[in-house]
Amino acid sequence: MEMFRKEIVRLLSEQLPLDKQQIANDLETPPTPEMGDFAFPCFKLAKELRNAPPKIAAELAEKLPASELFDRVEARGPYINFFCDRKMLAQLTLDEVQTEREKFGQRKSGSGQTVVIDFSAPNIAKPFGVGHLRSTVIGNSLYRIHEALGYKSVGINHLGDWGTQFGKLIVAYLKWGDDTRLEEDPITYLYELYVRFHREAEEKPALDEEARAWFKKLEDGDEQARQLWQRFRDLSLAEFKRIYNILGVHFDSYQGESYYNEMLDDTVREVETKGLTEVSEGALIVNLEDSNMPPCLLRKQDGATLYATRDLCAAIYRHQMHDFSKMLYVVGADQALHFQQVFAVLKKLGYEWAENCTHVPFGLIRFKEGKMSTRQGTLIFLEDVLNRATELAHQIIQEKNPQLENKYEVAKKVGIGAVIFGDLSNDRVKNIEFDWDKVLDFSGETAPYIQYSHARICSILRKAAAWPAPFDATLLVSDEEQLVLGTIARFSDAIARAADTLKPSVLARYLLDLAAAFNRFYHQCPVLNAEDDIRNARLALIDAVRQVLVNGLYLLGIEAPEEM
Ligand code: ARG
Repeated sequence: MEMFRKEIVRLLSEQLPLDKQQIANDLETPPTPEMGDFAFPCFKLAKELRNAPPKIAAELAEKLPASELFDRVEARGPYINFFCDRKMLAQLTLDEVQTEREKFGQRKSGSGQTVVIDFSAPNIAKPFGVGHLRSTVIGNSLYRIHEALGYKSVGINHLGDWGTQFGKLIVAYLKWGDDTRLEEDPITYLYELYVRFHREAEEKPALDEEARAWFKKLEDGDEQARQLWQRFRDLSLAEFKRIYNILGVHFDSYQGESYYNEMLDDTVREVETKGLTEVSEGALIVNLEDSNMPPCLLRKQDGATLYATRDLCAAIYRHQMHDFSKMLYVVGADQALHFQQVFAVLKKLGYEWAENCTHVPFGLIRFKEGKMSTRQGTLIFLEDVLNRATELAHQIIQEKNPQLENKYEVAKKVGIGAVIFGDLSNDRVKNIEFDWDKVLDFSGETAPYIQYSHARICSILRKAAAWPAPFDATLLVSDEEQLVLGTIARFSDAIARAADTLKPSVLARYLLDLAAAFNRFYHQCPVLNAEDDIRNARLALIDAVRQVLVNGLYLLGIEAPEEM
């Protein structure tokens, strides 16, 4: 689409008192193809040209010289709409996909800039909540989307690896610990210890005292406490990494809450020196009344630092390390106030980059009961979800394609893809009701539907004799073909829009549209049985669809098996 864009910019810049960059920035992609392939809004010109935007649009549309790249240029209200020449669209789009391949859709708008993405961040020795699954999936996608726009993405897993829960855990472990179970399945086992501790502490409050004492020892560097903490952390982290591996998620750093222990005093001192602190009921706080927020707590009465202290420290440290142009915190909506407070304090400290820190909130996920019971409320064991997904996908594949050779491998990709897409296809701020039947429906708005379209194309391409072959893209002028081409041409916009709104759902919807356009085309237009010229052009078309589906699924963190 770059060619078309450039041509519009050239045509308009000859007629308008605007520079090329301005025109390029204002150029829009209309929401549906009936409204043209590009639209230029004339609002901003009203003042300078002393005319109403619809009039400006009408006059401009008249005046613009013809271009071989466009069929029609029309004024519609305050917009000038450009309709690409069908042959040109076909030719240029397929050319571009063929040259760029796995890079097709990428842009350079973020090049030279770093985006730090804080995501996943489960708590060791506390349950991995559904929120952590959402954060992992959304964060991973935003990571890849920014990379595709040329940013350097830095993924940080701000592990919850410090806090009073470790005191409880040490007590529980010393009393009831079983080494074999700890080594075998640390996450579940530590969680069981955690639950048992809470249950028993209800009757024996003395346990809470003991736990506090052990956490104090840990903070003071007691050797035994340190060793146990290290062991719990190492074992849990190894387990998390194994799961991230299954999900294909990568982090550049696992600097969690404990990482900042040694730096916290400096952070607190900085806030004090800048005159921002007050003592309230023995605690050290930053008053945020001026922004209508409750105070941000830096130290409790007993001197202990808090979650917010660590986040302040981490933000300052990360800015020093990465000089980011944005930092995103992919964390549940229930922590909105926490982040507003942290950002407000950073601003008070004089850090202008606080403006570039954004909380990317998301709603709750509820697993519809039935096929998988979540051992307790909103609590999940991530691995159970992934196993369940794989198992269900395996059953479906078994029915649909009993001949398939590596069924289990494919089932993994399909099942896990279904879980990821079941999350990402929803607007992230909404709550989700997760329903296994829905996310695995091969003809619904699901990952399996998109993956299946992809596998179908792969199968056609495998069957095609004498392919690849030269082809004439300008034969692809029917409505069905043009809808596919127009959709392919919008891929890059969808990536950019997903980044602007920080919503992978934009891209998920885009892929559903592309898969739907492909299926409609495939339903109407024979490929393998078409006449040679047409056959080759159509094969090239579906090969381009295949490439875009792969690229797009990758950006969501989903794999595309060639057979399923
Ligand atoms: N561990 C925290 C939780 O489970 C999430 C951490 C998010 N990141 C951050 N920098 N605060 O609630």
